[in-house]
Amino acid sequence: MTDQNALKKAVAAKALEYVRDGMKLGLGSGTTAEVFLDLLALRVRGGMKLLCVPTSERTALYARKLGITLSTLEDVGALDLTIDGADEADRDLNLIKGGGGMLLREKIVAASSRSMLVIADESKLVARMGKYPLPIEVIEFGHASTALRLAAAFAALGYKDVKITPRVRDGAPFKTDSGCLIYDAAFGQIADAPKLATAILAVPGVVEHGLFIGIAKTLLIASPDEVEIITKV
Ligand code: A5P
Repeated sequence: MTDQNALKKAVAAKALEYVRDGMKLGLGSGTTAEVFLDLLALRVRGGMKLLCVPTSERTALYARKLGITLSTLEDVGALDLTIDGADEADRDLNLIKGGGGMLLREKIVAASSRSMLVIADESKLVARMGKYPLPIEVIEFGHASTALRLAAAFAALGYKDVKITPRVRDGAPFKTDSGCLIYDAAFGQIADAPKLATAILAVPGVVEHGLFIGIAKTLLIASPDEVEIITKV
């Protein structure tokens, strides 16, 4: 097992302590979330009863293979807890998500939960947001014009020369679970995340962005020494 995998397992095991029988649970996406699902499945096989809502088609497939029964937000309503990974997190529990392109459903599920618990290894913890390129989901219609308006919005906020790259997979435009496209915006540093989030959402054609501000309640960060618990005060 690589060191990073060991950290993912440690943080996933810690997250399991937050799960109680009978909970309505949002299931995150990404490799760390999948390690958590591996452990969760053992509990389910042991008789734990949960109502689970996945944040992506990939997670749905993975969970079903593990024997975890899935539901929908329509059927379940409000969730007790969502456990998800992140591409970047700071100590104020601001996140960048969407490295896997699942940010829209991840945000909807997290917003439908009373609490969001984020699990990550220490490589994801940053002092300043923005090192990880920010994923922005846009509808396909007019996407190149949308990208130009995003560039103008960034410049108006004082972000100079932000590289905005359409995401490609296997030589073709990457399509999200909702049939949209992703542009990744490399800021380097984000000075004011809430202001940037507002500006991005004001651009016609934008569906959602990967900034999660004021959503996560607890962040678990695994290092070789410990799993640190960072909570919102
Ligand atoms: C998926 O779109 C993302 O938000 C993931 O939660 C994020 O990329 C973390 O993934 P890993 O756990 O694979 O690093």
